Amino acid sequence: MRSHTWWRRKTLQTSCGAWLRGRALRDLTNLLVLDITWFTESMGTGRPVTVETRHCIQEMQPLLKPCLPAPRRRTVSQYACQRRTTMENHNKIFTEAFDILVENAEFCENEGPCLAFMRATSVLKSLPGAVCHLADLQGVPCLGDQTRAVIEEILDSGVSSKVKDILSNDRYRTLKLFTSVFGVGPKTAEKWYRKGFHTFEDILADQSIHLNKMQKAGFLYYDDISKSVSKVEAEAVGRMVMDIVRSIVPNAIVVLTGGFRREKEFGHDVDFLITTPETGKEEGLLSRVMDKLKYQDILLFSDYQESTYDQSKLPNHRFEAMDHFQKCFLIVRLRDELVRGEVQRDVGDHWGWRAVRVDLVVPPFDCYAFALLGWTGSRQYERDLRRFARRERNMLLDNHGLYDKTKKLFLAAETEEDIFAHLGLEFIEPRQRNA
Ligand code: UTP
Ligand code: MN
Repeated sequence: MRSHTWWRRKTLQTSCGAWLRGRALRDLTNLLVLDITWFTESMGTGRPVTVETRHCIQEMQPLLKPCLPAPRRRTVSQYACQRRTTMENHNKIFTEAFDILVENAEFCENEGPCLAFMRATSVLKSLPGAVCHLADLQGVPCLGDQTRAVIEEILDSGVSSKVKDILSNDRYRTLKLFTSVFGVGPKTAEKWYRKGFHTFEDILADQSIHLNKMQKAGFLYYDDISKSVSKVEAEAVGRMVMDIVRSIVPNAIVVLTGGFRREKEFGHDVDFLITTPETGKEEGLLSRVMDKLKYQDILLFSDYQESTYDQSKLPNHRFEAMDHFQKCFLIVRLRDELVRGEVQRDVGDHWGWRAVRVDLVVPPFDCYAFALLGWTGSRQYERDLRRFARRERNMLLDNHGLYDKTKKLFLAAETEEDIFAHLGLEFIEPRQRNA
């Protein structure tokens, strides 16, 4: 959890960043911000000492990014699916604040503000430079009075008082802690908080609390699964899953989706889409994969969901977070030796493996492109794709298909490119969907 020191550092960063930018230096990207130790050491030796990495304040480096170019004629779409958002975020100072506001609004079930903050953080992530003045926001959509006020306060003082209050709020801190457990949603977290619980020990010591199977696994493997999964680890899980799937159906398709497909370096889990070129062959595949994982002593936890996919019930007019494909939410044992080239892990952690959260989803082949698009994310990207389809094209899009309400027919697609073409959208690469 972030402490007040974090905020002090943030304040220093913003004022320092604003000062640096105010110097009208031509190229900030060649500068380094040094710690006071460099100065005191130089005074000690009577001459400027050589700059070493330890002298550099790493957190300051993002502030040396160029400011947003002049807003003249800039047009930014209100839909994330028409913006290119890579992992390079020039406006972390604002988006980190909005992420906390989103989370808090979710805990308070304030849908309106939650959506507004989500859209604000998403549009800021897509900007090609840092926002240094309110005037930089000219032509940037999705920013209402509330969100602008937050930005203005951060520009002025380096912090948002709203965010500061949230971070010191007991309910927020406790709900954040409880929902960090796999299988614990905001409702359960709230229930526990109302009982007066504040720590995991409080929960685990109480006889009246009944934990379900998922929550038990969540607590059991908490240390491992609350740690992010690296790309190298995700690839190692991929090889493991691929070997098992192909030993059952040799020409099966196994694709890494989710954040890793968007070229994120770290994730909270690893998501895979599995299908077979011949429709029908995918049925029963998942339970056989799970049997093999169990047999090889890899499976630590599994929650298997049978397919509820029914072509005849489509199109679905409601937005649904969950799709109807056969899927399972797993915790698997990832052995260290499978993670080739990975740096040594912390001492005290050397038991030869770590637990990793994995999702396997098995759509039939004719839904594959839609499922791939849906599971690649990001969540905000998907939300805006659906909103765009509905509002601008009178079409319904979900993980199963695309329905044209005007022509009253389903539009088939073999690839993601086909779907973008049906929607009349320029194709956006997965790495540019980090909205
Ligand atoms: P994740 O929650 O795994 O997010 O869902 P992520 O983008 O990979 O990020 P991290 O790194 O794991 O935290 C992946 C995508 O799958 C979609 C979501 O929209 C999300 O973008 N999804 C998830 C579905 O379409 N249906 C589901 O039932 C669950
Ligand atoms: Mn994921």
